[in-house]
Amino acid sequence: MSRTKIVAGNWKMNLVSQEAKDLVNQLIELCKPLADNPKVRIILAPASVYLSSVFTQVEDHPHFSVSAQNLHEGDQGAFTGEISGSMIRSTGASFVLVGHSERRTLFGETDSTLAAKTNAAIRNGLSPIFCIGESLEERENEKTFDILQSQLMNGLFHLSLSEMAGVIIAYEPVWAIGTGKTASPEQAQEVHAFIRRLLTEKYGELAQRIPILYGGSVNPGNAETLFACPDIDGGLVGGASLKAQDFHAIIQAMYKG
Ligand code: PGA
Repeated sequence: MSRTKIVAGNWKMNLVSQEAKDLVNQLIELCKPLADNPKVRIILAPASVYLSSVFTQVEDHPHFSVSAQNLHEGDQGAFTGEISGSMIRSTGASFVLVGHSERRTLFGETDSTLAAKTNAAIRNGLSPIFCIGESLEERENEKTFDILQSQLMNGLFHLSLSEMAGVIIAYEPVWAIGTGKTASPEQAQEVHAFIRRLLTEKYGELAQRIPILYGGSVNPGNAETLFACPDIDGGLVGGASLKAQDFHAIIQAMYKG
């Protein structure tokens, strides 16, 4: 069964306004030849202050979509500094990252917070890109599968079948994020197959249609072998998404996969 192929760029807390504009313009230019064969969905996740302007830039380029990096679990109210799913949706963005490991570890987001954030995303018409991943210690202690299973069960698997249909999962081993260390294609495929097995047990046939992205030091040199794995449907890219040429090369690798 063919699944949507996705390359998402997580800009994190990087780029000032003009740099963000320039990066998007360069990507639009570089990706023009791909527009005739829009086999890969390109998702840009800028800082929330740029959601509207990035959306305006890509609006006429339908293979591009925009994602927020985080949302609050409520819809409005006295939560100074937070942004809601409805606000994100009103900028034109259609995706939101939920549970990135930096949110889990640096900002204390728990499985139950993430379950509420996932609900808020869906309630507001956003597709969650739900991130899971084990730490180095957990991997070394052979806890990888237990950790991933509990992150999925407690943060995501409360969703109904129809709610789950819009979800994207990103497997990002914490030890590979921003470190230059990548999971080998074998390690990544093993985990992706495991995630798909859990999805199948819970959601049956739908599991075959849910994209599972790999993230963690994806770069132009390793993207093609990772994307060639049968259960890897794309990438969630941090550092390399800030350079137009590198991100474009990763998108091209997805076309080959
Ligand atoms: P990285 O980040 O590509 O810089 O490792 C990935 C991510 O955090 O999503």
